[in-house]
Amino acid sequence: MKQQIEALLQAAIAELKAAAAIPADLQPRIQLDRPRDKSHGDFATNLALMLAKPAKQNPRALAEAIIAAIPENNVLAKTDIAGPGFINFTVNQGQLIAQLNAAWADERCGVPLAEQPQTVVIDYSSPNLAKEMHVGHLRSTIIGDAVARTLSLQGHKVIPQNHVGDWGTQFGMLLAHMEDTLQEGNSEALELADLETFYKAAKKRFDDEEGFADRARALVVKLQSGDAYCKQLWQQFIDTSLAHCQEVYDRLGVQLNRSHVMAESAYNDDLANVVTDLTEKGLLVENQGAKCVFLDEFKGKENEPLPIIVQKKDGGYLYATSDLAAVRYRVGTLQADRAIYVVDARQSLHFQQIFTLSRKAGYADASTSLEHLGFGMVLGKDGRPYKSRDGGVTKLADLLDEAERRAAELIASKGTDLSAEEQANVARVVGIAAVKYADLSKNRTSDYVFDWDTMLSFEGNTAPYLLYAYTRVYSIFQKAGLQLHEVTGDFVLATEQDETLANKLAQFPEIIASVGNKGMPHFLCGYMFELAGAFSSFYEACPILNADDAALQQSRLKLAALTARILQQGLALLGIKTLEKM
Ligand code: ARG
Repeated sequence: MKQQIEALLQAAIAELKAAAAIPADLQPRIQLDRPRDKSHGDFATNLALMLAKPAKQNPRALAEAIIAAIPENNVLAKTDIAGPGFINFTVNQGQLIAQLNAAWADERCGVPLAEQPQTVVIDYSSPNLAKEMHVGHLRSTIIGDAVARTLSLQGHKVIPQNHVGDWGTQFGMLLAHMEDTLQEGNSEALELADLETFYKAAKKRFDDEEGFADRARALVVKLQSGDAYCKQLWQQFIDTSLAHCQEVYDRLGVQLNRSHVMAESAYNDDLANVVTDLTEKGLLVENQGAKCVFLDEFKGKENEPLPIIVQKKDGGYLYATSDLAAVRYRVGTLQADRAIYVVDARQSLHFQQIFTLSRKAGYADASTSLEHLGFGMVLGKDGRPYKSRDGGVTKLADLLDEAERRAAELIASKGTDLSAEEQANVARVVGIAAVKYADLSKNRTSDYVFDWDTMLSFEGNTAPYLLYAYTRVYSIFQKAGLQLHEVTGDFVLATEQDETLANKLAQFPEIIASVGNKGMPHFLCGYMFELAGAFSSFYEACPILNADDAALQQSRLKLAALTARILQQGLALLGIKTLEKM
């Protein structure tokens, strides 16, 4: 619907240009919004206000001219000018019903397949393997998963890349400590020990124990030059660490697995090539022994040039070097049309530098979109980075345990007729969903406060609220002895509430389009919250099973079923399962 109105406006603009009513070189970006207030119609645009100045015209007069130039169509029932020159559109009910019919018949609830499917490489989760996954890895992992699922639904070819950090200098001390642990005959120690403790022990020895640091450094050099013994030791560590990650992914309902791991180490053999290539292209300079690139686009606070260091004085490579190799691989080998990086916003400068340099070096041309989807931090109630009770970083596994425990208490406190087994399942789903949803429903670019009480509340834009809304619709069908798809008949929009709900349902494809474009899952959450609200108002005002006549009853059942399907589809895009009872 939105696209159809956009197309009508494009046609109107073209018409006005052809008639020389506005300058031919104007390329306005058409913005269509859904007004909050129903009296402003179904869509509104500020197009006339935007064009007034460059076209040197009065905005209201221009709005009239635009309306007059809109081609004949059966999409719009009414067009009005409001305020200083907004144009409000009211959609033809026949069109709305046609859209509902299409959504009803479609397994993707009306989400169209992309006309030009893209190859989208998406880098997410990407933890450093030296430690266990902690709360800081939550955001990248679940935002990336939601964006990946959304793009797949739209028919794009999605290639996840888990760019795990497995190659830094820290591995030297881990290997040294591991060597000793294994020599003491503690072969199970590594498997069972939690990595956090292991890391701390190694770090302590690195800082305090004579000779240990030198041994650690020597081991890294051996490892990086391909020594078989070191490699085997290292591989054992990496396998253990990845197994820990996989447990977390499975619990979170995130689709990542071993096949998506494309570690930093995988680029090792290509790093020298990157340096040679940048040298040949005349982009590298030596600065105090290190090989650097200086780009005019990046300056420090005092306007001093900022280097991107690609090789240290001692010959070692850096984070930036493997990211350059990764761009070459993603664009050159994987043929990405879009390469997306879901990484902490604090790495924004790094990615801007990598992207700019990649374009200069020809690793990505203008047809490839390179996008850093940055996100803010998870904060505690004190407004500081979220910490565990003992003041350390919170392991993700522990956080999820606590979520499940709290959800179980919540379910028990509500009084329930579910069996113990069912209750345990509900607690698992609700607990994990609450943590994920609390994160995904926030604008990813901001920091947010992690708060158990709000995320486990049945009120507001929360997972429990939406899961419950789904069970409510589901129970109507149970009562009627029907399956969701077992309704027939036409959509009849008899009252304002029927129509409001219908309008919300028809909006789903637009929302998915914007989540896919901008990589913003919170658009979807906000939408589902509104949809559940529209359903509530509808359910209060409009009898379903006791509707006045059979046709209205069928229509309302269909609206309810489509609500359930869209909630299920939407939650599935966030990697959240729905429940039939809770
Ligand atoms: N391992 C890095 C970290 O934990 C994130 C890697 C993100 N991806 C990338 N291609 N740089 O900070």
